Amino acid sequence: MSVDNILNRLSELKVRALQSLNGIDDTEALDSWRVDYLGRRGELTQILRGLSDLDNDDRRHVGSLANNIKSELEQSLSDHQQSLKDRELAGRTQFDVTLPGRSIDMGRLHPTTQIVREICDAFVSMGFQIAEGPEVEWDRYNFEMLNIPKDHPARDMWDTLWVDYKDNNGDTPMLLRTHTSPMQIRIMEDSEPPIRVIVPGKCYRYEATDATHEWHFYQVEGLAVGEGITFADMKGTLFEFARIMFGSDRKVRFRVDYFPFVEPGAEMAIDCFVCKGSGCRVCKNSGWIEIMGAGMVNPKVLEGVGYDSSKYTGFAFGMGPERIAMLKYGIDDIRLFYSNDMRFLRQF
Ligand code: DAH
Repeated sequence: MSVDNILNRLSELKVRALQSLNGIDDTEALDSWRVDYLGRRGELTQILRGLSDLDNDDRRHVGSLANNIKSELEQSLSDHQQSLKDRELAGRTQFDVTLPGRSIDMGRLHPTTQIVREICDAFVSMGFQIAEGPEVEWDRYNFEMLNIPKDHPARDMWDTLWVDYKDNNGDTPMLLRTHTSPMQIRIMEDSEPPIRVIVPGKCYRYEATDATHEWHFYQVEGLAVGEGITFADMKGTLFEFARIMFGSDRKVRFRVDYFPFVEPGAEMAIDCFVCKGSGCRVCKNSGWIEIMGAGMVNPKVLEGVGYDSSKYTGFAFGMGPERIAMLKYGIDDIRLFYSNDMRFLRQF
């Protein structure tokens, strides 16, 4: 065979091979194309076999051309293979309606947040406003102005985490608030009666943890001050709250308790909403569940913020939302709230 003849066959082969490759759209046909053009018995191999008849120079010339064509065809083959694969994949993601949906992990509100909001809503429905205050607090607000002077034994009711920092005057130490009651003082200092406000927020205590104690927890404080406010107003307000939170057939019980910032002070209980008073695990067989502390604002506290205690009276109350959630949902360990166990949190 002459050189020209071989060169012609090569370029004709290349054109034909590429044309037929273009028309292929499944992998089986692609494979037989590879066998036809590039295989051991394929056309290109046949042509290369004929090179032995040529002299050295011609053979080198034709050989290198043939190799170029070979690698060009191989490259086109692998490109085509890839594009078939891409097309198949794209087809699948667009059209396979039988694939199961991917589940989306939904976020949710922490049980404490939910209960705090429920408590706030109950009081907002009775005309209370919501206020928030600092978690790092002065001794003056957390204790002194609440009628708990330095060295007063009542301070033992609140084991305190102190902050190593002193006021400019150096006379009122800093602490992490042990309750939300200091906000009573801040609110009264900043405004005039009538006041009706609730204060949700975090509190801290220097305390060993167990099933009913955490060193960090929430409280919701309440304060109402105005002319002619009586203990009966307090009972009515808290009774309504108990009915909103725990059901309209609730009964309430107030018993004397001591808190330095209220006089008289009380502890409020509701009849057990689980056993209706006959005695069970939730109410520890007493039929009653204590849910908050309350009382009439101590005149000393009113005078301390500059209010005229012969003109104004008020009531205050404070409760632990985690405790309320524990009662409502039958949770028996307060530590579950803040240990980030998803199995617990997912239930709310
Ligand atoms: N601050 C109290 C505590 O942490 C709870 C409390 C009791 C708040 C009586 C009040 C109240 O406002 O009147 O134990």
